[in-house]
Amino acid sequence: MLHSATLNVMIKAAHRAGRSLKRDLGEVENLQVSVKGPRNFVSAADHRAEAIVREELAKARPDYGFLGEEGGMRAGADKGHRWIVDPLDGTTNFLHGIPHFAVSIGLERSGAIVAGLVYNPANEELFIAERGKGAFLNDRRIRVASRQKLAEAVVACGLPHYGRGDLALARNEIAAAQQHFAGLRRYGAAALDLAWIAAGRLDAYWERDLSPWDMAAGSILVREAGGFVSDLDGDGDIFAKGQVVAGNDTLHRALLRLLKQAGEETEKQAVTP
Ligand code: IPD
Ligand code: CA
Ligand code: CA
Repeated sequence: MLHSATLNVMIKAAHRAGRSLKRDLGEVENLQVSVKGPRNFVSAADHRAEAIVREELAKARPDYGFLGEEGGMRAGADKGHRWIVDPLDGTTNFLHGIPHFAVSIGLERSGAIVAGLVYNPANEELFIAERGKGAFLNDRRIRVASRQKLAEAVVACGLPHYGRGDLALARNEIAAAQQHFAGLRRYGAAALDLAWIAAGRLDAYWERDLSPWDMAAGSILVREAGGFVSDLDGDGDIFAKGQVVAGNDTLHRALLRLLKQAGEETEKQAVTP
């Protein structure tokens, strides 16, 4: 398949960073048995991957801005373009040797995401999309699932991290999902959750407290695969609140409704003595 010049640049960067992560994953597996564990090593692997992505992208597009999870924002001479990059999404999985993590690269033009790539080096699955051109997994066209029945849907979510988030709200949201869907999953890599929605593997997904680099690439994958992406209030600007709800038209709407009810239920419980 012939890719645009932009996608070629993104793919080259992701493949190089992916090779580095894959080598490092081998070392992480060795370090599991050491008392200190692989934590410092993983943080170095993360920085290494970001440096590779930044270097490759800057070689081809020296003027673009760059927002990376590790290095933060670097403005470019070209104010209309910026890369939004998570060099290692799914750090906790990586740290435990679980081969479910990804390099995520989004390209923003004048405030809108126009290209996205999510690459899992462990199984070499490469998800790409460009605005108006569809979404692809290893160069084969992908589409969101057409399932309409909640009782047949498999849905992914995030869970509040240790010491973070509103636990009462999370419990109510999860309870609502458990009552309506065939299965609930927590995979631990937001970019891949979105990519898997685009590929029709998952029917819907929601998560709170995310950053632009978790969602930039995945959001265009879902939209180009015919799906819907919004925050929990149904607003398409997912970066503003750092929340995401994704799925096909029916399940996206159904999940928004369930989450709203769970929110109202939580508020009621908070005022009831
Ligand atoms: C995390 C993963 C995880 C999500 C977290 C993110 P990281 O990103 O996407 O699935 O639940 O909120 O921060 O830290 O592994 O890059
Ligand atoms: Ca992330
Ligand atoms: Ca990360």
